[in-house]
Amino acid sequence: MKVLIVGSGGREHAIAWKVAQSPRVEKIYCAPGNAGIAEYAECVAIGAMEFDRLAAFAKETAVDLTVVGMDDPLVGGIVDVFEAQGLRVFGPRKNAAILEGSKAFSKDLMKKYHIPTAAYENFTDAQEALAYLKTVSYPIVLKADGLALGKGVLICNTPEEAEAGVREIMTDKKFGAAGNCMVIEEFLSGREVSVLSYVDGRTILPMTSAQDHKRAGDGDTGLNTGGMGTFSPSPFYTEEVDAFCRTYIYQPTVDAMAAEGRPFKGIIFFGLMLTKDGPRVLEYNARFGDPEAQVVLPRMKTDIVDVFEACIDGTLDQIDLQFEDNAAVCVVLASDGYPVSYQKGYPISGLDAFHDRPGYYAFHAGTALRDGAVVTNGGRVLGVTATGADLHEARAHAYEAVKWVSFENKYYRNDIGKAIDEA
Ligand code: AMP
Ligand code: GLY
Repeated sequence: MKVLIVGSGGREHAIAWKVAQSPRVEKIYCAPGNAGIAEYAECVAIGAMEFDRLAAFAKETAVDLTVVGMDDPLVGGIVDVFEAQGLRVFGPRKNAAILEGSKAFSKDLMKKYHIPTAAYENFTDAQEALAYLKTVSYPIVLKADGLALGKGVLICNTPEEAEAGVREIMTDKKFGAAGNCMVIEEFLSGREVSVLSYVDGRTILPMTSAQDHKRAGDGDTGLNTGGMGTFSPSPFYTEEVDAFCRTYIYQPTVDAMAAEGRPFKGIIFFGLMLTKDGPRVLEYNARFGDPEAQVVLPRMKTDIVDVFEACIDGTLDQIDLQFEDNAAVCVVLASDGYPVSYQKGYPISGLDAFHDRPGYYAFHAGTALRDGAVVTNGGRVLGVTATGADLHEARAHAYEAVKWVSFENKYYRNDIGKAIDEA
């Protein structure tokens, strides 16, 4: 069969690599793709938000299945456009992708269906938000309602910071229309865990857990980024935590969406905080995480095309989802200066070292081909993933492989997976 993947990041590279493992797949296209994805897929120069052009391409080339990796097209309704033209597509419709597209919606959903999350209030009026800030204790968390490239969350330690934050989001519209509405919520402390899961509208199959490192610098310092590295599984996500989440969070979320007339098909990514009072939902995403996909998919044994199709057909209850009993660590190699400003266009060397070494992967994020050579083309450049028998071995392998790759202004965190020493 022929598969089209929509997106161009390290997550889409990991999806393309996993799809390429399926004996059922004879051809992969990726729009727009990147230099690494081009090894498995024919990259097509159509943007992820050009829904009509993408659908026309899928029709002309007789694509059997389209997989959407990114949040923007999902929240914008790409799945509805494909379905209206009779095309098979993996991902939530617009009315379900709102689970990620509106934090106010997702908080109200959790409240209505008693899904454990931080206490909160929603606001559409800046004056009311400012008045509310006088009644809360600190730190407090401010969230722009809509998509904001992972930057719409502000953790404020003082009333002054929070007032400035409300103005940034609601008055100055720093995140654009995403700030027309905002959530003010209780600050939670604990360990964060990401659990990605396959959903077919009724049944949910959670994947193995992962942990992200969002800050730019070692020791969780510096600015928030899209994610500087991950490991999987999380040693803090115990069987007990898993059992709690399945009963009180995962299935209730799927049932709530169905009850609201918004059946969810695709990936639900649960961003969880393991607090001393138990797991709480920090946020939902409607897609694979980046770089969570880069550690979870290399550990997945089951044919992913079978799973995607079962989600579309509502037959996920017949899938036996299996993961390797090993571990994986991904270290993101970024351009120095990310997430603020950085140079692009530097040649990358050493990528050949990954070719005949099973268990080592260089997932491309911001890369491009220039005169046949791979060059840097973004803030997050590569995700170097390695597997191992356990987390310690996987981490040692990942940091060994990080050294194989060189490019000017290469920057990475040295402490990805450090938390496992505390487990
Ligand atoms: P998000 O962009 O929604 O993924 O949130 C970014 C990060 O903000 C999360 O990964 C958490 O580290 C943090 N965060 C979000 N909500 C809370 C909360 N209620 N308490 C503490 N930290 C939070
Ligand atoms: N790594 C976090 C995310 O994909 O949202």
